[in-house]
Amino acid sequence: MGFFNKDISDYIDIHSSDESKILADLRRETEIKCLNPIMLSGKAQGNLLRIISKIIKPTNILEIGTYSGYSTLCMAEGLDVDGVIHTIDKNEELLEIQNKYFEKSGYRNQIKQHTGNALDIISEIKENFDLIFLDADKENYLNYLNIISKKLKKGGILLTDNVLWHGKILENQQVHDRTTKIIDEFNKKLAKDSSLLSVILPLRDGISISVKL
Ligand SMILES: C[S@@+](CC[C@H](N)C(=O)[O-])C[C@H]1O[C@@H](n2cnc3c(N)ncnc32)[C@H](O)[C@@H]1O
Repeated sequence: MGFFNKDISDYIDIHSSDESKILADLRRETEIKCLNPIMLSGKAQGNLLRIISKIIKPTNILEIGTYSGYSTLCMAEGLDVDGVIHTIDKNEELLEIQNKYFEKSGYRNQIKQHTGNALDIISEIKENFDLIFLDADKENYLNYLNIISKKLKKGGILLTDNVLWHGKILENQQVHDRTTKIIDEFNKKLAKDSSLLSVILPLRDGISISVKL
């Protein structure tokens, strides 16, 4: 999913480290069996998630939007030996493919899947987090921000996907649809939040990275 020059995107993909076999197999199976495979993070963004997670070695990760589990497994690579990743998705039909690859991955016991509406589930999880990946319903990005900014530990990292929204955030604000308005407002709020240090990386559909100060 992206709006940048395809040659640049292809160049970035080719010149990024290879996926593991399990990630490549999961990506291929997602492309064949799941609706909207474009939603999967893919190699370059997946590598960013892997790198960030390996740098911070999180004990607690929260993922909002599991889909087929590709990004879950990317972030699981950096988990501390006692670490846990909580991942939430409302679509129970995705559990079969997630379970197949979580079993194969060696991280099965460190992954806690939650099925249902993320806004309800997040409040039920007692832990605070070293790493949060926000990648679900964009219409709720501001609502998510209200909840997760309190659950992000000091020094913790928030990654938010699709913040450039296919370039639509550059359109005249008068013609913004509801989702674009919310994403634009989310980006403005992140930039102004003095408790976070944030930057938007122009990778794929735009991913912002914020550290809690
Ligand atoms: C873009 S996909 C996630 C992609 C995944 N993070 C990856 O990189 O491979 C978004 C997912 O969010 C889920 N989702 C959408 N709205 C949700 C909600 N309110 N609560 C929980 N999950 C939701 C969808 O079912 C979908 O699987």
